[in-house]
Amino acid sequence: MASQAVTRTQVGIVGAGPAGLLLSHLLHLAGVESVVLENRSREYVQQRVRAGVLEQATADLLAETGVGRRLARDGIVHHGLELRFDGAAHRIALSDLAGGRTIVIYGQQKVVEDLTEARLAAGGQIHFEVADVSVHDIDSAEPKIRYTVGGEPRELACDFIAGCDGFHGVCRPSIPAGALSVYDHVYPYGWLGILATVPPSTDELIYCYHDRGFALHSLRSPELSRLYIQVDPDEDIANWPDERIWEELHTRFAIHDGWSLKEGPIVDKAITAMRSFVVEPMQYGRLFLAGDAAHIVPPTGAKGMNLAVADVRVLSRALAEWYRTGRRDLLDGYSAACLDRVWRVQDFSYWMTSMLHREPGDDGFAHRRNLARLRYVASSRAAATGLAENYVGLPFAE
Ligand code: APR
Ligand code: PHB
Repeated sequence: MASQAVTRTQVGIVGAGPAGLLLSHLLHLAGVESVVLENRSREYVQQRVRAGVLEQATADLLAETGVGRRLARDGIVHHGLELRFDGAAHRIALSDLAGGRTIVIYGQQKVVEDLTEARLAAGGQIHFEVADVSVHDIDSAEPKIRYTVGGEPRELACDFIAGCDGFHGVCRPSIPAGALSVYDHVYPYGWLGILATVPPSTDELIYCYHDRGFALHSLRSPELSRLYIQVDPDEDIANWPDERIWEELHTRFAIHDGWSLKEGPIVDKAITAMRSFVVEPMQYGRLFLAGDAAHIVPPTGAKGMNLAVADVRVLSRALAEWYRTGRRDLLDGYSAACLDRVWRVQDFSYWMTSMLHREPGDDGFAHRRNLARLRYVASSRAAATGLAENYVGLPFAE
């Protein structure tokens, strides 16, 4: 049998998405060493098109920890959003309603790029394109991660393992059945998302509710628009040539006052299913789950990355405290501390999602309920405040 090269680190991190990279960065600032193992290539990870709305607290954290330079330059600060329904536009003044807080439009893959550069510049270890990752002895004081590089077996011995490997990763399934409670809700619709090289037709995001279903106009830059439409979850992208997508977008976004949608070349196009998912607890022995490995939210409200950031902030502090003082109460409290925010965000994402999507097979009840909700949010300061404070994101707990 081939001998297995063994290396050691304090925290072994599986996954180089926003959760894994930011955790590694925050641990480094606290003097804790980590190694990140990622099964994809650096190029692949940095090119994946994902959501692009940073809550105020997320943007602040990146700036405070020295990875916010490009964000400050290229991020687009928004103070409001538009709800569009009944053929009319209704502005929600997020910042006025939520104590001056804002959101920043900045692609998730740019956050990943910035964090990767910062880690590598600081001498951090990120191993891309590793294969056959598995975690072992997680209920002992000497957990380890095994993997292969070019077919050669390797072992990383750690004090702790952070499972930041997303929804389809290997860490969560390594926890014995019975130790976790799973809460799962699958929605009967999906999003077809496009990226188009055309200046956005709007300054602020438009969340649109139409008889034919939800539509969203977002953006990435002054030259790049990001748009979505509600489709069946098992819809085949082949049924959606570019002309059909634009036609559907025109129909759903149409309003009475002559607003028009600019078209441009579509450079990325994909369909994603939607679900709400949580496991409790987010820890087993010395394995801690963070980000999508522990929970998924539907994309309405763009909370996924923000939630991942909140998790690893808590985890990095708990680990730093353990190394500094030997205290383990913060580690023991990790899951409870995160789940509080996770469930608040689950409820908000579910609420936004159900309010803005057409329910397949609806006999008209859900449709009228949705319109009533939208009219209430658009006309009541109290209702709009609820949307605004959740949308810009609750401040981090101390
Ligand atoms: N071994 C190593 N790496 C893995 C493995 C594995 N077996 N399985 C998955 N990964 C990697 C993926 O390739 C990905 O780069 O783990 C990373 C997980 O990253 P994300 O899926 O981005 O999850 P997370 O960091 O929790 O960020 C949450 O990202 O997925 C979006 O919508 C999500 O916005 C949310 C945010
Ligand atoms: C995006 O820009 O990709 C985006 C914005 C808002 C959402 C979801 C996605 O609610």
